[in-house]
Amino acid sequence: MKSSKIEIWEKLSNKKKEFENKHLRNIFQNEPERFKKYSINFNDILFDYSKNLIDDEIINLLIELAEKSDLKDSIEAMFSGKKINFTEKRAVLHTALRNLSSNNVYFENYNISNDVKLELNKALNFAENIRNGVFKGFTGKNITDVVNIGIGGSHLGPDMVCTALSHYSGDVKVHFVSNVDPVDISDKIKFLNPETTLFLIASKTFTTQETMTNANKAKQWFMSKSNADTNSIAYHFAALSTNISACKEFGISEENIFGFWDWVGGRYSLWSVIGLSIAIYIGTENFKKLLNGAFLVDEHFRNQPFKQNIPIIMALLGVWYNNFWNANTYAVIPYDQYLIKFSEFLQQLDMESNGKSIDKRGNKVNYSTGAVLWGTIGTNSQHSFFQLIHQGMQLIPIDFLVGIENLSKNQSQHDILISNFFAQTEALMKGKNRDEVRAELEKSALKEDEIKDLLPHKIFDGNKPTNSIMYKKLNPETLGSLIALYEHKVFVQGIIWEINSFDQWGVELGKQLAKGILAEIKENKTVTNHDSSTNGLINHYLSNRK
Ligand code: F6P
Repeated sequence: MKSSKIEIWEKLSNKKKEFENKHLRNIFQNEPERFKKYSINFNDILFDYSKNLIDDEIINLLIELAEKSDLKDSIEAMFSGKKINFTEKRAVLHTALRNLSSNNVYFENYNISNDVKLELNKALNFAENIRNGVFKGFTGKNITDVVNIGIGGSHLGPDMVCTALSHYSGDVKVHFVSNVDPVDISDKIKFLNPETTLFLIASKTFTTQETMTNANKAKQWFMSKSNADTNSIAYHFAALSTNISACKEFGISEENIFGFWDWVGGRYSLWSVIGLSIAIYIGTENFKKLLNGAFLVDEHFRNQPFKQNIPIIMALLGVWYNNFWNANTYAVIPYDQYLIKFSEFLQQLDMESNGKSIDKRGNKVNYSTGAVLWGTIGTNSQHSFFQLIHQGMQLIPIDFLVGIENLSKNQSQHDILISNFFAQTEALMKGKNRDEVRAELEKSALKEDEIKDLLPHKIFDGNKPTNSIMYKKLNPETLGSLIALYEHKVFVQGIIWEINSFDQWGVELGKQLAKGILAEIKENKTVTNHDSSTNGLINHYLSNRK
């Protein structure tokens, strides 16, 4: 890290020490304009970051840190197709997939915008043909069920988006198979009719073990259940991939192969033809709105000054807690049932991107990088892990997400949900001090010695940082924007930490070993070539499996 960055780093460390003695409750009392000062409006989204352990000086230092990290140039490098994924020598251009402006995007002097439009339109036409029954199965029946087979980025995004936008769905049902555990596929297909089912084999590489195993299983199921000949596969299988020759080899007809490019990272691919299941589920107009929501955030990210730039502020707050407050995890808690898979999706986006420890010069870093991201929906989380966040020993910053309009007609029940969100952010910030607890206990029938014993257990320290992201309604455009905000947040953090957010070498070793072990298991002989634990486990499996 260059010395000008280290200087700011040291100033921030000192600010942290100073801030340890402050409490947000008092800060809010002394600063009535705090909400106004630390919140940003963007279309239908309000981002409130006032309940954070920050003041103007801290924000200015964090912004200086971003400037000294050459963030502005790095943003331009990404949008303009520079090969910023330097270990794989690839550009990072998922933003080109949702570029709805008239400005073309170039990669190595080649205008990629035309190819993007062509492939998108081909996929969207296919989606519409399935939705309106023009595309039929091999016996002439309409497609009623679509099964997306993919894993990681070829699964999590489409699955999360379809769940989030289930309110916008049409008649065709979508199912998602990802795990190589055979019960995943068998449970999903057992009630399906092969004559009305379409499989989408979603894999950037078309070599991923889990996906190809499930795809072969699906083909076998289709052939055996339908008594069809191999020509019928054309009516029931489509492929979403960059590896066109492998798709053909699998038996998928050319018109059912939808391509994309190596400059689309797996975890950023839902905007490409990998999103076909989404387009079939919600229709092309809604899919375009999803793209538009992301495009609007791209414009915001590229053009807004750092201080008014939501993903940049989100990223800097993450750096502040991770590197200066030793907060190794952060939670994302949507008070929105339809966002039940959002944190799971963000886990890959954030942790596969920034779970790195080697910097761009090839050196091991000596600071913390990507935090562990976790969480699930409110109010369920209040009745499971919120205890630890309120009274445990760890600092866990939280992003709350909440929709103003509910998609059901039950306003009074929606108000109950939303009041819980308000209450949690307030409780986490304010806490409950000794005097307040005592006053409350004194109103009860407890005796003084009972009050004394109970009192410390009922104190809430408070001072727990939260962001609140409030949006009007969870519609396709807003969802597109929310996803893009997190994508860019992750990007900014990677720049500050000087790591490559776009490769994923850490997933390779396990894959490699699993292949060798599978061959050994197939041999069905006692193994001795691993360590004693791995040998013991494999041999125990071999002698106990049926
Ligand atoms: O193993 C990790 C990974 O490479 C992810 O980055 C990717 O999203 C996933 O596997 C699936 O890869 P593919 O789309 O090539 O099947």
